[in-house]
Amino acid sequence: MKDFKNDFRILKEKVNGSTIAYLDNGATTQKSFQVIEAIEKYNKLYNGNPHRGAHYLSIKATELYENARKKVAKFIGIKDSREIIFTKNATEALNLIAYSYGMNSLKKGDEILLSITNHHSNIVPWQMVAKKTGAKIVYLNCDEKGQIKKEDIDRKINENTKIISISHLTNVFGVVHPIEYIIEKGRKYSATIIVDGAQSVPHMNIDMEKLNPDFLVFSGHKMLSSMGIGVLYGKIERLEKMEPFLFGGDMIEYVDLYDTSFNEVPYKFEAGTQNVEGAVSLSSAIDYIENIGIGRIESIEGELLRYTVEKMKENKYIEIYGGDDLTNRKSMISFNVKDVHPHDVATILDSDNIAIRAGHHCTQPFMKYMGLNSTCRASFYFYNTFEDIDRLIDSLKKVRGVLGYEY
Ligand SMILES: Cc1ncc(COP(=O)(O)O)c(C=O)c1O
Repeated sequence: MKDFKNDFRILKEKVNGSTIAYLDNGATTQKSFQVIEAIEKYNKLYNGNPHRGAHYLSIKATELYENARKKVAKFIGIKDSREIIFTKNATEALNLIAYSYGMNSLKKGDEILLSITNHHSNIVPWQMVAKKTGAKIVYLNCDEKGQIKKEDIDRKINENTKIISISHLTNVFGVVHPIEYIIEKGRKYSATIIVDGAQSVPHMNIDMEKLNPDFLVFSGHKMLSSMGIGVLYGKIERLEKMEPFLFGGDMIEYVDLYDTSFNEVPYKFEAGTQNVEGAVSLSSAIDYIENIGIGRIESIEGELLRYTVEKMKENKYIEIYGGDDLTNRKSMISFNVKDVHPHDVATILDSDNIAIRAGHHCTQPFMKYMGLNSTCRASFYFYNTFEDIDRLIDSLKKVRGVLGYEY
């Protein structure tokens, strides 16, 4: 396996004598030197306010920003780059859809179909919409492995279903939901379909032509780029009909004393000075990812996941959530160590420079549904190695002993 870590200084840096085994990629990923250099080059040579000036730097910033838009479109297989709107993150993109579309299109009796496995960012905005419009939220449930069953989909999608908003790859158990089937069913009733790709877009190939959702959202920082840049893909005919989400500079055509006409898509949805540096970093991140190939990323992470599960199974005190069958599973693993609180596990692992996440992972309804308070989560990216996993497994062996339990 190529050592991608050579491109990631942070993963080679020693902290108190050892490198960090970074296994919290579901929260955020690290930046390669190429991405860092692209950000630096932008700030050193090209920083300007885009779409506003006639001078070199403004023109250059506009060019880089719009090229990043085209790059994102091509990356997810979209021909019309006007369908790409830059946001702050996936959360803002979901809020944009909820407010601009949901709030203005739903009425009492309509149903919003979510998954019980959704991240809070794909639940809370819909609760606000439901409260304001009188629409009802319906949840797709899952089995003990976190998988949604076709029967539940068949049961819950009907003529009242107006919006379906689902995580593609879930962020606790790492389950790939059957979105093709959900989309196919939803289409029969003309439901609007939103795919939360925050975890899937960085880790797996997504065939947008085949899936054909109305909206797709994701965050740059989960795929090597800076924080503060996210993406909303939306079908042009929908975006054109939607009201803007934020109001102010750049999203206008003409402003009169008491009324305003709006700019065209995508600018209508990008009010105020935009994160050009973030767009540049996302563009460079996409170059890096494309250079490896998303298929290769999937296969590296698949091997890491299989290896982790096999090793974890050798420790009788580790409970793996989602089971050890890795069908429809990707890029992360949730687990607990018997008798030990996940925060204690994460803290003990941290003392060995192993970074994992512990908590409810912004999925409180899911955790409650599964009867869990919190879990430990190790989440991978292509730069992780078997050595990172060995360190995780070795450190996990110590956890119970540190707290005075049999191990
Ligand atoms: C499935 C899923 N959706 C949405 C989000 C929100 O992403 P962000 O915090 O970048 O907006 C996350 C973040 O972890 C996530 O895992």
